[in-house]
Amino acid sequence: MKMPVAKCLVDSYELKANEDLGEGWFRLDIHAPEMASKIRAGQFVQVRVDAGDTLLIRRPFSVYDLNPAPGADATELSLLVQNVGPGTHAMQELRPGDPVDLMGPLGRPMPRPDLAADGVLFLVGGGIGVAPLYLYCRELVSEGSTLDHRVLLGARSSSLLIGLEAFEKLGTTTHCATDDGSDGYSGNVIDLLSSQLDGLDESTPVAGIGCGPHGMNQALLDLAIGRDLHFWISLENYMPCGFGACFGCVIPTPEGQEPRYRRVCVEGPCFPVNELPSRL
Ligand SMILES: Cc1cc2nc3c(=O)[nH]c(=O)nc-3n(C[C@H](O)[C@H](O)[C@H](O)COP(=O)(O)OP(=O)(O)OC[C@H]3O[C@@H](n4cnc5c(N)ncnc54)[C@H](O)[C@@H]3O)c2cc1C
Ligand code: FES
Repeated sequence: MKMPVAKCLVDSYELKANEDLGEGWFRLDIHAPEMASKIRAGQFVQVRVDAGDTLLIRRPFSVYDLNPAPGADATELSLLVQNVGPGTHAMQELRPGDPVDLMGPLGRPMPRPDLAADGVLFLVGGGIGVAPLYLYCRELVSEGSTLDHRVLLGARSSSLLIGLEAFEKLGTTTHCATDDGSDGYSGNVIDLLSSQLDGLDESTPVAGIGCGPHGMNQALLDLAIGRDLHFWISLENYMPCGFGACFGCVIPTPEGQEPRYRRVCVEGPCFPVNELPSRL
């Protein structure tokens, strides 16, 4: 049965594939034509999972890919998932043909910064943050965008650099940073971003979107505010409902701005840095 919830769908869809990507990561491909055709990069779905006898609350996941292409013809959506607890463990056990209960699309799409032709858009990701950034790049490619966009991915070590090959296959300029120096830049991804910014001509217009774990997001926020950069950050706060009803995901706004709190699930999850509190 299809139930509309605040302009989103709730339905059961068929799992087509579950690919083990190693290191606790897996990719789910789900046949969901009505939902897939409405989703834009940065939006997420809430997945209802059964863990043994326990029915857990829904868990939020960014949409990683849409096939055959993003847009009205999309029939299949993919999630890139890291197994971290009971809900994601139950999802990893799913097999082709199993039903997957989804609610979505939720949240606002990632913005398209208004950049001059000589501008550079940085897409900075770490951990599960690579998922929405990949769909964002897929959208740019399928729209034939000529925007100079560069993906910077960070991880502790090369074996944890998830999704790198997929970006390279798209033809996106991709750089990586590893804390242990096992691949790419030796250091964290925000230091890599800093060095890339230093390499640009001062007059080059720059914008960016970041999506990663809390520490990466905080370092990106500090850098963007410090350098007065036109950046957005996508947050991954806990989301009990996902559609604005429970206020379990709120963040405070900077002093002097109204309203005092905003719900990450409906007003976000992506916010311009000047609308974020200084401590995330
Ligand atoms: C908007 C949004 C998009 C997301 N997209 C993805 C995605 O594309 N792929 C993916 O694998 N995960 C994604 N997540 C995170 C995912 O929702 C959680 O990992 C999942 O809910 C964990 O459920 P669990 O029952 O397996 O583990 P739990 O038992 O609920 O948690 C296991 C561990 O993970 C930590 N954790 C759980 N949720 C979060 C969170 N939101 N932020 C930080 N730490 C958390 C807990 O503190 C705990 O240590 C996203 C979260 C949000 C809010
Ligand atoms: S998760 Fe319930 S209001 Fe955001």
